[in-house]
This record gives sequence, C-alpha cells and structure tokens, in this order.
Amino acid sequence: MAEKINLNVSQYRDELRSVIDASLDEATQFDTDCPVRLCEAIRYSLLAPGKRLRPILVLIACELCGGDWRQAIPAACAVEMIHAYSLIHDDLPAMDDDDLRRGLPTCHKKFDEPTAILAGDALLALAFEMIGHLLPAELAGRCCKELAVAAGPCQLVGGQMDDVYRTDSIESGNIQTIERIHRRKTGALIRTSLRLGCFIAGASEEQHIALDEFGIYFGLAFQITDDLLDVLGNEKTVGKRLRKDTENDKWSYPRFLGIDGAKREVQRTLELAEHSLEVFRNNNIARETLYSMVKHLAEREK
Ligand code: IPE
Ligand code: IPE
Ligand code: MG
Ligand code: MG
Ligand code: MG
Repeated sequence: MAEKINLNVSQYRDELRSVIDASLDEATQFDTDCPVRLCEAIRYSLLAPGKRLRPILVLIACELCGGDWRQAIPAACAVEMIHAYSLIHDDLPAMDDDDLRRGLPTCHKKFDEPTAILAGDALLALAFEMIGHLLPAELAGRCCKELAVAAGPCQLVGGQMDDVYRTDSIESGNIQTIERIHRRKTGALIRTSLRLGCFIAGASEEQHIALDEFGIYFGLAFQITDDLLDVLGNEKTVGKRLRKDTENDKWSYPRFLGIDGAKREVQRTLELAEHSLEVFRNNNIARETLYSMVKHLAEREK
C-alpha cells in the first residue's frame, strides 16, 4: 500500500514537472524582435534540467486548497523564471563565480557575461508577463505584488546582497543572522510559491496561514540542505561545483553549527514544517506529495 502511494506521488510529481516544462518551453518562443542569442541563453538556462521545486509547490498548494492546478500554471512558470534569473546572476563572476549549473556550463560560460546578465533581466520581466496571463485581473495584480516583494530588495535581492557583502548585522556573526540571509535569499521565493497557489485557489484563512508557515520552514530547511550538499555532496549528482562556500568564505549553516548541528537544524525545521500541514486532513495526492517532499528533503542528493 505504502509503495502504491509512493508510486502515485512520484507519478504526480512527474506529471506536474512535464506540464511545467512544456509551459516554460511555450512561453519562451519569442518573435523575431528577440535576438537569437538572447533567446538561446534564456532557454538554455530556464529549460536546463532543474528540479522545478518552486513551480511544483505552486501547483500543489493550489490543488491542496481546493483549486485546479491547471489555473496556477502561469504563476508556476513565473516563479521558475525568477528562480532561473537569480541562478544566472548568482553564478556570475561578480557574485559566486561558478562555471557549472544543473550539470551544464553556467550561462556566462556557455555564452558570455553581457548575454547572461541580459538573459537574467529578460527572465525577471517575463515572469511578470506570465502572471499577466492569469485571470481575472484582480488576482493577477495580487500575484504580481506578492512576487515582486519576494524577488525584491527586502527579500531575494536583499538576502543575496548580505550573502555577498555580509553587512553590519552579520558582523556580530550569530545563527540568527545567517538564518535571516537564508530566509530572504532562498526562503522568500519558496514561501511565495505556496502563497501564490493559495491565492489562485481562493484558499481559506486557515489554509493560507498553514501553507505560509510551512513555506517559511521548508524554505529555510531547503537552503540549509543546499549548504550541506556543498560540503557533503557529489559534484556529478548535484550538477554544481561544490566546496565553494568555504572557498568563497560564505556564512553557511555547516560553518556555524558543524555538519551534525546543521543536520539537526534541518530535522528540527522540517518537523515544524510538517506540523504546519496538520490542517490538511483530506488524504489526497497533493497532500501526500507535499508530505513526501518534507520527508525526503533531508536526504536529497541534488
Ligand atoms: C538552487 O536551487 C539555489 C538555491 C536557492 C539553493 P535548486 O536546488 O532548486 O536548483 P534547481 O532549480 O534544481 O537547479
Ligand atoms: C543561491 O544560494 C540563492 C539564490 C540564487 C537566490 P547559493 O549561492 O547557495 O545557491 P547555489 O549553491 O549557487 O545553487
Ligand atoms: Mg550565492
Ligand atoms: Mg551560488
Ligand atoms: Mg549553495
């Protein structure tokens, strides 16, 4: 029986992933005003084999709150576009200076720096165009605002800024300061993915609060496991250059708490995440899938 549920969960995730991939492909068929090289760079990075975690969360949250996940596809594409832009820029020589992403040369290595910067810029704008495809307009406006805040100066970009410069507050160097960076640079977009799904489904207050809280814990646990993978992972499986956080003098969880301490923090945070889901009692596939994502996050290998 357990096996049957697992099989369904993975089939369900695969189905969502393939719908997302097809929609991203369709959304990047530009007309001739988009230079060929720019189009190639956008598609190269966006369609590269990522896990599509954030768009899957948008669709699952929508379904879990009683909506139809098909209606959430534009929002799901939008968060993946913001994510892809953030990765392209994160990899630039002026940022983390990486040459491998999703098992492939990074965008600026495959193309060049100006093309990578502009491909990122284009993806950021395209995300909001995608949300424009949501109906009705009032919902699209609400989703645009939500996404803009998550991607903006006090969340994703602010977290990236502190990650790169480790400004004042971090000087005192405690776990709260790293947590604050992780919550903003990575957690914010993950939390927003769930919130967008709630908006589109017309979730109840209770569902909304539950998934919002879940997003905060799950997003934090996700970045801590990313830090752990940097230390413990296999480069081929992860598809990124590893042991870079120490080389780049990053403030990571393993650096602060040690490997075991960081692992314990993942477990603690995931327990809180799981606890947030208790309001969803209907035993449907979306709920099972979300639970399985929590269960397996700590063991992820990429
Ligand atoms: C990588 O995100 C960057 C982080 C915020 C940790 P993912 O691990 O979701 O990367 P992809 O999308 O699967 O490539
Ligand atoms: C990335 O954090 C966060 C964003 C892209 C916003 P990392 O720099 O740790 O991500 P990876 O390890 O390069 O994927
Ligand atoms: Mg970085
Ligand atoms: Mg990086
Ligand atoms: Mg990392």
